Amino acid sequence: MKIDISKAIPFVGGERIKQNETELKSLHKALVNSTGQGNNFLGWMKLPAAEDPEILHRIKADAEKIRAQSQVLVVIGIGGSYLGARAVIECLSHPFLSLVREEKDPVILFAGENLSEDYHAGLMDILENYDYSVAVISKSGTTIEPAIAFRIIKAYTEKKYGKKEAARRIIAVTDAKRGALIQLSAEEGYPTYVIPDDIGGRYSVLTPVGLLPIAVAGFDIDKLIHGAYEIMEICLASSDPEKNPAIRYAAIRNALYQSGKTVEILVNYLPNLYYFTEWWKQLYGESEGKMNKGIFPAGVNFTTDLHSMGQYIQDGTRMMFETILSVKNPGKELSVPFADKDLDGLNFLAGKRLTDINHMAELGTMLAHVDGGVPNIRISVRELNEDTLGTLIYFFEFACALSGYLLGVNPFDQPGVEAYKKNMFALIGKPGFEEEREKLMKRLKY
Ligand code: PA5
Repeated sequence: MKIDISKAIPFVGGERIKQNETELKSLHKALVNSTGQGNNFLGWMKLPAAEDPEILHRIKADAEKIRAQSQVLVVIGIGGSYLGARAVIECLSHPFLSLVREEKDPVILFAGENLSEDYHAGLMDILENYDYSVAVISKSGTTIEPAIAFRIIKAYTEKKYGKKEAARRIIAVTDAKRGALIQLSAEEGYPTYVIPDDIGGRYSVLTPVGLLPIAVAGFDIDKLIHGAYEIMEICLASSDPEKNPAIRYAAIRNALYQSGKTVEILVNYLPNLYYFTEWWKQLYGESEGKMNKGIFPAGVNFTTDLHSMGQYIQDGTRMMFETILSVKNPGKELSVPFADKDLDGLNFLAGKRLTDINHMAELGTMLAHVDGGVPNIRISVRELNEDTLGTLIYFFEFACALSGYLLGVNPFDQPGVEAYKKNMFALIGKPGFEEEREKLMKRLKY
């Protein structure tokens, strides 16, 4: 993994970056020594070295069992309880997996990450025709979206398979003691995995939250952890930006923020990175956006979004910078064919790989956007595999924690998400919220 900030430095000057780097030295110490804000949520930091071999073994065995008995795994979860798994699975899967004939890997479907009736009813239509298993994932065990989806899917599964077989097909990933899910699992006899107390949802992809679905999808969780382990050693060992890319990234993105660039756009050129961007948006948005501060994390998928958002990025309000997630080698090879008549005038590209053209689009766009006043940071990996994804996941987590500290916020809490929940509970008639409900109804003139 490499980070290049040369196309961002001219927008802020070296002095501001140096100041941030100096501050980050002591913040790095606070993070590594667990003396900073939110230090009871640092379990993710040494996790790649602390993974329990017995749990990994169990995950692999359960994954094999699910793969043998199911064509589909339904993962029920929201936010940090699904985005990491989905990011890795989509990065590594065949883009049209559900249509691949002879495919042995189960298709992973997601539920409980929205409240759409059509979506969940449609899912039931599909489940009627396939053998499936269910992983219900919720740290609190009380989040309403996955809880509702689980009620529906549990009832359906019991109807389809009978109660006893349903209990063999449902696995819960949740807190060791708190929440309804752990109690329900004990009563129904579901196998469970524990989400450690000191790891918050958005930092939990390397716990069973992410590892179980990723293993069921057929990917190598040891390699994922190995990739994270390698960068963990670097991130923990040094606060020198020459050695630690997380320091470099935290310093430059905050220098840009301090110069008025309040939006960071994570740019990719591969459609299978779409959910990686969603995972990253949650990680940074929920970690930094508080106390009326924080960089707004956005994402674009190029080249498609160059035909929609490209105009704004080139020419609109100058408030953003881009971080390109660049992948050098694709998994497959495909070249532009020669055409006898050359009506589209593209024979000059005949024999060229799509990846070469995509890279030229990437480099050309980067320079155009820099010329248009958009600073660019470039993070590159040689290819997308379990190893490099593990590295990227840990790198972004570590940099996010440091970045939050530099901003002066606690990167491990999310007090702001309670506000919508309170209103929603009141409006759907949750007992205890009657007074609030009346007030809201008046405001809404309902
Ligand atoms: O990062 C977080 O803490 C959140 O995004 C949670 O993961 C999300 O709200 C889901 O919570 P839970 O796992 O408790 O259902």
